Amino acid sequence: MAEAGETAKSTGQKDAGHAALARKYRPRTFSELIGQQAMVQTLKNAFAADRIAQAYMLTGVRGVGKTTTARLIARGLNYETKDGAGGPTVDFDEEGEHCRAILEGRHLDVIEMDAASHTGIDDIREIIDSAHYKPNTARYKVYIIDEVHMLSRQAFNGLLKTLEEPPAHVKFIFATTEVRKVPVTVLSRCQRFDLKRIEIEPLVEHLTTSPKPRTPRSSGPPSISSRNPPKARCATRSPFSIAPSPSLAAAWT
Ligand SMILES: Nc1ncnc2c1ncn2[C@@H]1O[C@H](COP(=O)(O)OP(=O)(O)OP(=O)(O)O)[C@@H](O)[C@H]1O
Ligand SMILES: [Mg+2]
Repeated sequence: MAEAGETAKSTGQKDAGHAALARKYRPRTFSELIGQQAMVQTLKNAFAADRIAQAYMLTGVRGVGKTTTARLIARGLNYETKDGAGGPTVDFDEEGEHCRAILEGRHLDVIEMDAASHTGIDDIREIIDSAHYKPNTARYKVYIIDEVHMLSRQAFNGLLKTLEEPPAHVKFIFATTEVRKVPVTVLSRCQRFDLKRIEIEPLVEHLTTSPKPRTPRSSGPPSISSRNPPKARCATRSPFSIAPSPSLAAAWT
């Protein structure tokens, strides 16, 4: 037993240094978010005019940045410098009081719920009950509900009233890959952002500028051939892929 415990401990220590690529390169500021300028500008204008929606709906296919954006919005809403100044913003000049905890998903006032595994009315009831209490340290209590389309019909209905008139200190951020399954009654109470896949051009520009390649082979953007994995290059050299000579082609026809 002790051996198993020690093995787990040593494995845990080893894993602590490793971060999956998606987490390692998760944008920490709005300026690092590639290709979502329209959304960022909309948020910026809304924050500046103090017209902050009570709920946001982030939609888009897998891996398009919904969770990342949700945490960034939570960070922006609760942004406060170490000396207690500042208000909702999309420009993080310095790391604020709550920033690190929010980005790491461990802030007391930013509650993340996975609706895929918490589908029922009881889960929503917990949120509704706790929403009445003021935030502990942050400006807003932010509820991030991922895969919100998985909520049961009863759960959606339970959420409606609070969503329509939430306490002033509460904000909701929903994320979903299947927005068509979200009832219109919920959709109509949210500010919706449809996140798009990053276009090739900004992606190439990003990859060639930041982060810098460790051993740059050329100064220009990576060509299609240089991005081919070795296996693919081998395949193009395979005798089966060699185009037949014109005479051979003629003999086949
Ligand atoms: N617009 C973007 N700019 C920069 N990086 C991005 C962007 N969108 C996604 N990424 C990268 O992709 C990773 C996955 O993003 P994220 O987890 O936010 O996607 P998701 O939409 O929540 O995915 P899922 O549908 O699987 O939950 C991020 O950690 C980040 O590294
Ligand atoms: Mg996600």
